[in-house]
Amino acid sequence: MKAKEISVIVRTNASMNLSTLFRAPSPLFPPPHSTATSRTNATENIAIEGRNLNFSITTRQGKVVPILQDCSLRIPSGQFWMLLGPNGCGKSTLLKILAGLLSPTGGTMYVKGPKSFVFQNPDHQVVMPTVEADVAFGLGKFNLTNDEVRSRVSKALDAVGMSNYLKRSVQTLSGGQKQRVAIAGALAETCKVLLLDELTTFLDESDQFGVIKAVRNSLDSSEEVTALWVTHRLEELEYADGAVYMENGEVALQGDAASIMSYIRARQSAYIKQINS
Ligand SMILES: Nc1ncnc2c1ncn2[C@@H]1O[C@H](COP(=O)(O)OP(=O)(O)OP(=O)(O)O)[C@@H](O)[C@H]1O
Ligand SMILES: [Mg+2]
Repeated sequence: MKAKEISVIVRTNASMNLSTLFRAPSPLFPPPHSTATSRTNATENIAIEGRNLNFSITTRQGKVVPILQDCSLRIPSGQFWMLLGPNGCGKSTLLKILAGLLSPTGGTMYVKGPKSFVFQNPDHQVVMPTVEADVAFGLGKFNLTNDEVRSRVSKALDAVGMSNYLKRSVQTLSGGQKQRVAIAGALAETCKVLLLDELTTFLDESDQFGVIKAVRNSLDSSEEVTALWVTHRLEELEYADGAVYMENGEVALQGDAASIMSYIRARQSAYIKQINS
């Protein structure tokens, strides 16, 4: 029952466009990816922009604890970006702020809508008994004909490689397949931004790459979809166009995937040298 409640909240938020609440006045950084530079109006082609986002909590004793400090990031439309960093550095908090699930205590942001937030636990994603019904779940509000619903469901399942599972009971799916059905639900609702929080944590290797390839394919089959994917798994960076690296509640670096990979590897070797010395 709890799982259903969570998914309903997510699907409801997927249709909300909070971009007007926190619109960044202008791009902060030079375009981080080559496709952005080739376009004439960079602002129009940005899907996600956060500018000096802050988030803090107040303890029962009245002490203010900063969680995010001046986080700025800028992600071009149509790209697959990853958000990495050590445990507790603030990745999920930043993603929830971008999704509109948490309000920042400071800063501005722009996120193209509609957007969808997909949680880590695959069992929190599915709400209906069959794959077909689950993907169609969020389409009620669009006043579509049955044929239009069928067409959207079919196209979305195709994008995540789940066309053959249309009539399957969701309970018989693996964790990764459930995640792919959740992503198909967002695509069927024509979500422009997918915010994905550690989807592969509970998955085995085959499911892990099934989900990541599904996201990559969804972006490749529609230039309009942008994804921000939180992960701890460095090997997943191979599928990314760019990445943001966080430390201690701050964005330490953002850039192309190869540069972020080198940065993290260099930090890991420095750490290993330090503990061996
Ligand atoms: N509601 C809250 N109350 C108190 N502390 C919180 C709350 N939400 C987050 N935090 C703290 O904020 C920090 C950032 O949490 P967050 O979950 O964003 O980190 P994360 O980078 O996603 O970590 P992980 O990799 O473990 O998922 C952590 O130290 C966490 O304990
Ligand atoms: Mg997290």
